[in-house]
Order: sequence, then C-alpha cells, then structure tokens
Amino acid sequence: MTKKILFVASEAAPFVVTGGLGDVIGALPAAIMNKSDMDVRVVLPFYRDISENHMSEIEYVCYTYVSLGWRNQYSGIFRTKYKNVTFYFIDNEYYFKRDGCYGHFDDGERFAFFCKSVLEILPLIDFFPDIIHAHDWQSALVPIYLRTLFGDSENYRRIRTAFTIHNIEYQGKYDLSILGDVFSLSDYHGGIVEWNGCINLMKGAIEVCDKLLTVSPTYASEIFSPFYSHGLSPIIEKNSGKLGGILNGIDYETYNPKTDMSVFRQFDETTFENGKRENKLLLQHMFGLTQNADIPLIAVISRLVNHKGMDILAEAADRIISGGAQLAVLGTGDYNYEDFFYNLARRHPGMAYTELKFNPDTARKMYAASDIFLMPSKSEPCGLAQMIASRYGSVPIVRATGGLYDSIHDCSLGRGNGFTFSGYGSGDIIDAVNRAKTLYYDKENWRALVKEVMKTDFSWDKSAGHYINTYNSM
Ligand code: GLC
Repeated sequence: MTKKILFVASEAAPFVVTGGLGDVIGALPAAIMNKSDMDVRVVLPFYRDISENHMSEIEYVCYTYVSLGWRNQYSGIFRTKYKNVTFYFIDNEYYFKRDGCYGHFDDGERFAFFCKSVLEILPLIDFFPDIIHAHDWQSALVPIYLRTLFGDSENYRRIRTAFTIHNIEYQGKYDLSILGDVFSLSDYHGGIVEWNGCINLMKGAIEVCDKLLTVSPTYASEIFSPFYSHGLSPIIEKNSGKLGGILNGIDYETYNPKTDMSVFRQFDETTFENGKRENKLLLQHMFGLTQNADIPLIAVISRLVNHKGMDILAEAADRIISGGAQLAVLGTGDYNYEDFFYNLARRHPGMAYTELKFNPDTARKMYAASDIFLMPSKSEPCGLAQMIASRYGSVPIVRATGGLYDSIHDCSLGRGNGFTFSGYGSGDIIDAVNRAKTLYYDKENWRALVKEVMKTDFSWDKSAGHYINTYNSM
C-alpha cells in the first residue's frame, strides 16, 4: 500500500526560503516521490511573502477554528502543487501576515498555532499520513501534540513521527510559565518539554518522536558532545537508539550552471574552462576587482556569524589577500563581522569585495565565477553551499566538521574533491588556501581537480533512497 508522508516545516522553496532548510523541504519530497510510490505532501505557514508572490498558483480549500490555550483562532487551508508534490498552507493573518518568517516577539505562539492546526486539518484535507516528518523547533510541537493532546483518537495514534534536527543551536526555548497559556500543555505533560528549567520544544520532539534524524552522519555523532549540542547532549545520549544521519543533496535542476540564467555565461563539465574564465572577468568587473583571470578568486557566501567560522576568517583575511588572492564576501550577520568585511574591502581596493545582503542572484554569479569556495565553519550540520559551489566548479576549502566532513575529501590524500582542514585557527585556513593556490598555478592539475569537483554527485537521488528505507523501517 502506498505510504503517506506529511512534511511539516517553516519554509520551503520556491515559496519561502531563508536558509538551507527551505532548499531541503523544497526538493526532498519530490525526490522521494520520483523514486518510490510514496505520497509525500508538505504543510507550511501561509506567510505574507507566499500569499503576495504565489497567489495565482494557490487555491483556497476550507477553514476551521483551532484552540490554543484560551484562544480560538481562525485557520484557513490553501493548497497548490509544485513538482507533483501537494503543498498545504495554514492561513491566519494575525500570525503570518507579517514581515519575514521569524524573529517576532510571539514566535512560540505563532508556531504552536501552526503545529496545532496541522493536526486539526488532517480530517478536513482527508489525509491521515502514516508518518509525519517534522523539521526543526518550529515544527517540534507536532509530534508533541500528537502524543499528548491527540493521543485518544485511533486515527492519530497510528501515525508515526520522524523529527529532523537541521541545526541543534536553535531549540525554541520559553519560560515555563506559558506552558498552558501559550502551548496548551498541562503540567502533567510539562516534563516532556521541560529542560534546565525552561520549555525546550526541540528537546520535547527528540523525546517523543519515533525516528530522530540529522542532516549528515558526522553531525549525528558530533551532537553527543557538549561542544556541538548546545546543552542537549544528555537528551541525545538518552535517545541515541533512534538517531540517524542522512546527508542532504541539492536540487540539480535549480542549481545547474548550464541553464542558470543568473550567471553571465552558462557552462558545463566540458566547457567550464572558458565558461568560468569569462564569468570571472565579468564578475571582477561588476565587483570593481582587478580584472585578471590569473588571480585566484575566493568566494565566501555565508551568514556572518561565529559558528560559520567568521572569527578565524576575519583573522586570516588580510593575509589571504596580501598572499595574492581576491576575496569576495556575500552575506549578512553580526554587526562586528559586517563591519569587519565592509572595511576589509575598503582596505584592499581591487582585491576584496563585500556585499552585505542575502542576494541569490549575486550568489549564483559568485559560485560560477570563483575558483575557490571557502567554508571554515566551526560546526555545520550539513551545509549546502559547498555542494552548490562544486556543481559550479568552485573548489571547496572546508573545515572538516559535520556535513562538510562527509561531503568534501582532501585531494592531497589522493582522489579528492577539495581541500579540508581540521584545526580551528586562522593558520589552518591560510595553510589550506596556500595548498589550493599551489595547485591553482599548476594549470593542468587544477583543471583535472575542477572536473572531479564538478562530477561529484550531490543530487538528491542518493539521499532520497535513504529516506525511503528509513520510512519503510518505521
Ligand atoms: C541548517 C544547517 C545547515 C544545513 C541546513 C539544511 O541551515 O545549519 O548545515 O545544510 O540546515 O539541512
């Protein structure tokens, strides 16, 4: 019998994307459906960004009222199909007709309403899934409500749950005093979500889900240690029997240098040499960098925050540039790093460029034009940028952690697809950059490496197979 799976998440491409989570939820369901007869559907909040930009494709289904603490709130249901996958949207203008997805004072209440609605609408959309797959803390209350508030009904009791941690740093922590008022949970159920004197939604989902997943095998083993777990290692330890890690992929249709209309010149595995050269000269021009195809161009596309390794990159940046490489940085983040990279570009005219924006179009131009893609993360659950960079022939230099460790292998050790380092210091970055530069000037071998990098298979196909096996085992 066809297995029915419902993904619950707070973002999905192409409707709304702020980070890797959105890319994954936009691509994985379709990849699973291509490879199996499973019926995978997705439910998201109906943010203003979605209703304004995608309304012509989306249809209204029906509405209901959902109780949350003392509230009783309207909950509308909308629907569309994308890549053959049905997407549902939960509408409530008070909660979701706002700027962006996150960062509002009442995010806990907004996502509690979303999670409760997801379970309430199942009879209305006539879809009782075999498995609900919830992602990150914003969806953590779905498995929790399923085992508490919805535990009496047979239709709900038979649903199995998977919960994926995309990043353990963001847990959804709230004051215990709002357990009943905001989260509709009684003191009797409080123990499920309580951790270190707070409500911790991610902790609750980890405890009650049937299958616990992270987005790479290495990250799944790293979160046992306090260095990576942000306080949850005892909970991971306790639930280790149901933990697994599956590496993400990227959407090979969306990220394809042969068809990407954002890049200056399209290219593929056979035409990359000229293609990348032209892209580089045009991007150097656009960024006001010295136009010279022989200068190695290093790209950084990242949130400018500590755990992405921006502290050690900031220490290394001046030396990387004075060593003869150009550095282009794209992203937003903490003020001190924005300030640093802004000034770096001013200090090194012609050799450094900084754009403090999340700009997908510029990002694609940078992937296509750069020779080297630098990702010095302190921790990285999976990371998608190193995969996109590879597809566009930009050789990754990564710190060997989490999904970076699982996806990039150092070419000095034989057949590899990039450069890696494991220490966490500016010297480690510089050493890796120097190794890459040495090979860069050895044109013949560099060409062979870029080819190898572009050939690495990061498509969803492989990972989708692992998800199908996991669902079948539940
Ligand atoms: C989070 C993680 C990132 C991962 C993404 C998708 O953003 O920080 O490493 O690639 O989720 O799973």
